[in-house]
Amino acid sequence: MRKVYAQISGLGMYVPARVLTNADLERMVDTSDAWITQRTGIKERRLVEKETLTDLATIASKQALENAKVRSEDLDLIIVSTTTPDMQFPSTSCLVQKEIGAKNAACFDLAAACTGFIYALGVANQFILSGTYKNILVIAGEVLSSITDWKDRSTCVLFGDGAGAVVIQPTTEKRGIISVYLGADGNFADFLKVPAGGSRLPASKETVEKRQHFLKMKGNETFKIAVRAMGEAAEKALSLAGVSAEEVDCLIPHQANIRIIHSVAKRLGISEDKVFVNIDRYGNMSSASVAVALYEAVEQGRIREGTIAALIAFGSGFTWGGCVIRW
Ligand code: ACO
Repeated sequence: MRKVYAQISGLGMYVPARVLTNADLERMVDTSDAWITQRTGIKERRLVEKETLTDLATIASKQALENAKVRSEDLDLIIVSTTTPDMQFPSTSCLVQKEIGAKNAACFDLAAACTGFIYALGVANQFILSGTYKNILVIAGEVLSSITDWKDRSTCVLFGDGAGAVVIQPTTEKRGIISVYLGADGNFADFLKVPAGGSRLPASKETVEKRQHFLKMKGNETFKIAVRAMGEAAEKALSLAGVSAEEVDCLIPHQANIRIIHSVAKRLGISEDKVFVNIDRYGNMSSASVAVALYEAVEQGRIREGTIAALIAFGSGFTWGGCVIRW
């Protein structure tokens, strides 16, 4: 039997129309365009107005399906990576299934914070390699504005909303997902979290007054670990793929901070012209960041047939991961 690979055969993305610039933030908290630009590389981000995560995910998914020429009723599985689902349950993947009419698909959500898209690619890859499924829709989407504390200048300048989607199918050509490496360390759970609203600390008047439903991050400590973990994730994924850093044509890192991106690229010896950056336009969209960046890299021709792309991410948990794709 010929070896099977999982290939990405269609992509889609959607970001809301509303733009929040650094100048807008200057009017909301004690910050400046200069600080945000220099410390993070972010100039503006997109925020939902009335849209839900399901709305963003549905638009991105329809585009990915059209792009892949796959009918929604032919989908076997929908995975939604998110930390900001529409509600605790049902899963956002079920809500998207209804919207796109994918009545034959199994559905579940996956929580690995900013690394979620790479975790979801890893899961989809296994379902394809095992021969279980033939048409999988992987969505990474976030409405981070719903858990952002707009009074906390150390975090509110960082995040944006958006969604990316890919269709994954088997191929017998040696292309598609070549390797996936996933890692995690729950000892760092307190570094980046939303303390309340779960079963440990259910919503109450007190939790709302203490603003515990918003994201809390130890930014500086997280920064240092992110550089190390993303570098290691890239090295492990490349080694599993039998690909050297010099052979990478396009590095797609999680877009959390331009300084993290530059440090990781330097550590890997990958020149900056090969690194895809869109943090200036969208900020950190958690798991949607890598999915949207992948879409834009393909759209701009930075990734094309034969290109070797390395996707790397890091997020709450902590979680981290890398995925090497031959396009
Ligand atoms: N405007 C102006 N000043 C600010 C702002 C702001 N928006 N935010 C913080 N400051 C101040 C601080 O109060 C501090 O002032 P002080 O020295 O007087 O105390 C100073 O700037 C430096 O603060 P730091 O927190 O040390 O700033 P740092 O250079 O570390 O940048 C940042 C902060 C951007 C958050 C950075 O640490 C970072 O990017 N961390 C990693 C984020 C990440 O990778 N997260 C994981 C993925 S995200 C996810 O999973 C959802």
